[in-house]
Amino acid sequence: MFRPRSQQRKPTNPPLAQQPPCFRQRLQSIYSRTSTESTLRKVLSLWQTSKAPPEPPKPLTSRRWRATQGKDTLKRQLILEEEIVPTLEPAQVLVKVHAVSLNFTEVLILEGKFHAIPRVIPCSDMAGEVVAVGEEVSTVSVGDRVSAGRLLDFVEGTLGRTDYHHSGTGIYVDGMLDEYKVLPVESLVVIPEHLSYEEASTLPCVAITAYNCLFGGPKQVEKGDTLLLIGTGNLSLFAAQFASAVGVNVIFTTSSDEKVSQLKDMGFTQFVNYKTNPDWDKEVMDLTGGVGASHIIETGGMGTLGKSISCVAMGGWIHAVGFLSEQPNNIDLTFEAIMKNCIIRGVFVGPNTLFNEMNEFISEKKLRPLVDKIFGFDEVPQAFEYLSSRRSMGKVVIRMPCVERV
Ligand SMILES: NC(=O)c1ccc[n+]([C@@H]2O[C@H](COP(=O)([O-])OP(=O)(O)OC[C@H]3O[C@@H](n4cnc5c(N)ncnc54)[C@H](OP(=O)(O)O)[C@@H]3O)[C@@H](O)[C@H]2O)c1
Repeated sequence: MFRPRSQQRKPTNPPLAQQPPCFRQRLQSIYSRTSTESTLRKVLSLWQTSKAPPEPPKPLTSRRWRATQGKDTLKRQLILEEEIVPTLEPAQVLVKVHAVSLNFTEVLILEGKFHAIPRVIPCSDMAGEVVAVGEEVSTVSVGDRVSAGRLLDFVEGTLGRTDYHHSGTGIYVDGMLDEYKVLPVESLVVIPEHLSYEEASTLPCVAITAYNCLFGGPKQVEKGDTLLLIGTGNLSLFAAQFASAVGVNVIFTTSSDEKVSQLKDMGFTQFVNYKTNPDWDKEVMDLTGGVGASHIIETGGMGTLGKSISCVAMGGWIHAVGFLSEQPNNIDLTFEAIMKNCIIRGVFVGPNTLFNEMNEFISEKKLRPLVDKIFGFDEVPQAFEYLSSRRSMGKVVIRMPCVERV
C-alpha cells in the first residue's frame, strides 16, 4: 500500500518468503536446533550477508502513443513511438501498464479544445504491475497490482496548493498510454483484488471524483438521502453505484431512453429526461415529494446549475465537478443559492488516501466498474473515435500488449 515518503520504512532485506529456498532451509535448520543468543547472532549475520533473488530483467524500450500538434492547427494527431525507458530514481517505480481507460477530456485535447503540453502522452487512468523499484522504495514490491492518482502529487489532505494540477497526467505531465511507465512511489495505490486490470484502470479520475463528492466532504451521503445525477456519464455511473451501496435513492437526468432501459437492468428506477422536459427540475421536485435532492453531482456546469439549485433540498449540497453543458445560463445563481441556503462545493478528483479508502469500499461491497468496450493497443485512434461518438455507456478501455521488452 502507498505510504507518504516521510513515513516510509528504511529499505530492508526482502522478506523470508522472497529469499532463495537454500537460504530459507539454512535459516529454518538453525531455528529448529537452538534458540540461544548465539543463534540470533548467526541469523543476523546470515540475514545481512544474504542476497535477494535476482530481479526480473528491466525493459530497455517502451512503445507509447503521443498527441502531436500540426503547424497551423490546434488539432493533434496520435503517433506511436518506441523510446528508451528512463533509469529509475531511488523513490521511483517501474510499472508495466496492463490497461488504460479513456476520459472525454482526452478527446478535447486531440480536438485542440483543451490545453496540454506539446507531444503529450495522453490519458491519466491506468492499472498495471510493478516490475522494478528504486532503492528507497519499501511500500510496494515487484508483482504488486497498482494504479496511480490522477494528480501525481495529490497524495493526502485537501487541495491546499493551487499548483497540484501541474502533476495532472496526460495534460501537464506525460500520461499512461505507455507500455512501461516510471512513476513516483507516492502516486501509487494497490488496486482491489477482485477487479481485472481493465476494470481497475477506470478508477483514477471519475471514480475517485464521485467518491470524493459522496464521502470526502464535510457532509457524507447517508441512507435515505436522495442523490441527483446530471446525465449518465461515467462519473454519474460510479456515483450511482457507490451511493446505492449505502442506501441512497438515486435519480438520473438523461437525454436517452435507451440508457434508461440499461439503467433499469442495473436496478435503478428514477429518471428524468432533460431533453424532452426542459423543466426537469420541477420533475425532480415532484419525485422527491417537494423536498428536493439532498445531494447533487453537478456535471453540467453553467447550463444546468440554475436548475440544480432549483431542485436541491433546503440546505442541500451541490458538488460542482464538470462543465458538459454549453448552454448559456440566465438565472441569477447567487439569488437562487441564497434562497435555497445550499452549499456549492467544488471537487477536483481526490487524494491517494481517499483513493485507498475508495478501493477498500469497492472491495468490501464487491462493486465492479461498468466497462463498455475494450480496444487493443494498436486501435487507440479507433477507441478515441468511438468515445467521441458518444455511443458508449461505461468506460472505454485500452488493453496494453504487455510484451517483455528486454
Ligand atoms: N472535477 C473533477 O475532478 C472531474 C473529474 C472527472 C470528470 N470531470 C468532469 O465531469 C464531467 C463528467 O465526466 P464524465 O467522464 O462522466 O463524462 P462523460 O462520460 O463524457 O458524460 C457524458 C454524458 O453526460 C451527459 N451530458 C452531456 N451533456 C449534457 C448536458 N448539456 N446536460 C446534461 N447532461 C449532459 C450525457 O448523458 P445522457 O446521455 O444520459 O444524456 C452524456 O452521455 C465532465 O465535464 C468532466 O470533465 C471532473
